[in-house]
Amino acid sequence: MTEHVRVTVEGGIMRLTLARPEKKNALTSAMYGTLADSLIRADSDRNVRTVLFEAEGDVFTAGNDINDFAAVASGTRPRSEMRGFDFITQLGKAQKPLVAAVSGHAVGVGLTMLLHCDLVFVAEDAKLSVPFVNLALVPEAASSLLLPARIGHARAFAMFALGEAIDGKTALAYGIANAALPRAEVRPRALAAAEALALRPLESVVATKKLMRDSEAISGVMAREGALFSERLKSPEAAEAFRAFAERRPPDFRKLG
Ligand code: COA
Repeated sequence: MTEHVRVTVEGGIMRLTLARPEKKNALTSAMYGTLADSLIRADSDRNVRTVLFEAEGDVFTAGNDINDFAAVASGTRPRSEMRGFDFITQLGKAQKPLVAAVSGHAVGVGLTMLLHCDLVFVAEDAKLSVPFVNLALVPEAASSLLLPARIGHARAFAMFALGEAIDGKTALAYGIANAALPRAEVRPRALAAAEALALRPLESVVATKKLMRDSEAISGVMAREGALFSERLKSPEAAEAFRAFAERRPPDFRKLG
């Protein structure tokens, strides 16, 4: 458990609120652990009928805590201690519906997790990006399958490889979101959607979600991505990217040949 993720269950809705605004809700291993454990609990707890992701502060999440990445890359922390993969795995397996309320930046897993959500509400001026290649990494959370399937290869490649961000209105047009709203309306609207879902017959909702997702394909892609991701984390390119982040300068990959 960490104070940086608030977990509440009320009226059939499990709310998972990212609460590390001073670090733009960058996700630490402890935060991932709480999110993963909560998703497991949600599927087994009869009091939970839907899960709502939301965040405190002006940013949904700046993605994985880059200092955690750097610690794994330098060998100061074993990869096995990092719980990001557990969260992603649970997202792929989640049976109950997931709803998300996204304002501000949603970077990396902040966007890839939305591809596992069933209803997504974004602020019109949200900024969604998956700049894995800028960090010399590869896509995760089955996004190498799910993002091109959702928005087409060319758009997905520009987002992955060039780090191009899209705003909330574009996310709506691309089919990533259900609605793009003024920022103040995002969380109330997502909550209302979660409440509506909680009134539906749960078994029918769960069966519908199951029919709509190829969870075997998703877990296969996650395994392949995970293996490459671990390799990339230890690469000289990634070391340069993490050094550059710490030194607040652009990385220079050309010097690595
Ligand atoms: N990991 C660790 N710390 C992070 C972080 C991350 N992913 N993102 C932000 N932070 C920290 C900053 O280091 C800074 O810490 P400090 O106050 O101790 O210096 C604090 O959060 C505020 O971030 P800052 O960059 O000043 O905020 P901003 O409003 O100018 O920009 C973002 C917000 C999200 C655009 C920017 O923080 C960003 O691009 N972060 C990195 C995103 C990223 O590449 N994530 C990995 C995806 S795979």
